[in-house]
Amino acid sequence: MQTRLHTRYAASVRLSVAPMMDWTDTHCRVFHRILAPHARLYTEMVHANAVIRGDRARLLAMDPSEHPVALQLGGSEPDLLAQAARIAADAGFDEVNLNCGCPSDRVQAGRFGACLMREPALVAECVAAMQEACPVPVTVKCRLGVDDDNEYERFLGFIDTVAAAGCRSFVVHARNAWLQGLSPKENRDIPPLRRDWAWRLKRERPELEVVVNGGIADAEVAAEQLGHLDGVMLGRAAYHTPWLLHELDRAWFGGEPRTREGVLREMRPYIESQLERGVYLKHITRHLLGLFAGQRGGRAFRQVLSEGAHRPGADWSLIERALEPTR
Ligand SMILES: Cc1cc2nc3c(=O)[nH]c(=O)nc-3n(C[C@H](O)[C@H](O)[C@H](O)COP(=O)(O)O)c2cc1C
Repeated sequence: MQTRLHTRYAASVRLSVAPMMDWTDTHCRVFHRILAPHARLYTEMVHANAVIRGDRARLLAMDPSEHPVALQLGGSEPDLLAQAARIAADAGFDEVNLNCGCPSDRVQAGRFGACLMREPALVAECVAAMQEACPVPVTVKCRLGVDDDNEYERFLGFIDTVAAAGCRSFVVHARNAWLQGLSPKENRDIPPLRRDWAWRLKRERPELEVVVNGGIADAEVAAEQLGHLDGVMLGRAAYHTPWLLHELDRAWFGGEPRTREGVLREMRPYIESQLERGVYLKHITRHLLGLFAGQRGGRAFRQVLSEGAHRPGADWSLIERALEPTR
């Protein structure tokens, strides 16, 4: 099947925001989109089964302002993943990403996520089936290996096998996943980072798009990666210090400087339309708490929102109150 071209999508490979369960829901992505008009955004991981049988209106919720946005799928059954990928494309997602990096026990029991690093032929089958079923790019987010895998050649073998099945874009979380003994949270910090493996992959396979992820928390480290790779993906830093997204977007793609307050005001029509639909303010404001991190009034901003947003009837006026100490 022909891959659908999306010009904005093509321009945005340099900067993306990681898929993060419980965090990168549609409200969060709308906020990140305002901060970074050119970034590629990712949903939380959704299992293929849930997409097929679950509450799609909730699981695939997406606002039109989010584009370009990728749905991340979990799973390891080619037929199910193909069905889910088609549903995702029909729902308007610009990319479908297969999770080969999540190390949680639940994921290991279901034989998907990071344990797929040991099953490149199966991943290739999944990717081929997904790409056949849907017109948008199918990409893979992976680790360097699992447990004590320590050979670059093995990692390269995984990439080559999956690339041969039609995947040309890889997000590499540049550390191993340790499947025994570490929690998912520890697995984001403890296995050592080896970004040089991603750099080497790009040197040896220049035809592939390689995006690096893991521990990128400031503009200098991010910019350094662009000297070697197609793009960077930010996870926790984007969530906790979202202004960094705006700084990178502006540095790399140009555009007018904004203010934090201005960004928040751009959220107002979205927030008010969600409140009218019965969404509670706290479900949106929880993603905004880091906007003034490190700034005057940042702590008070956070506190006013955290304490007030869950109260019945909380509305935009709470945000006006939270802004006061920041001026
Ligand atoms: C709360 C949270 C949830 C996450 N959920 C997912 C997920 O659903 N799919 C995935 O591929 N990675 C997930 N990750 C991993 C991130 O996408 C990313 O690979 C990891 O945090 C390392 O990048 P960072 O150092 O920039 O945060 C999650 C990370 C966090 C902090």
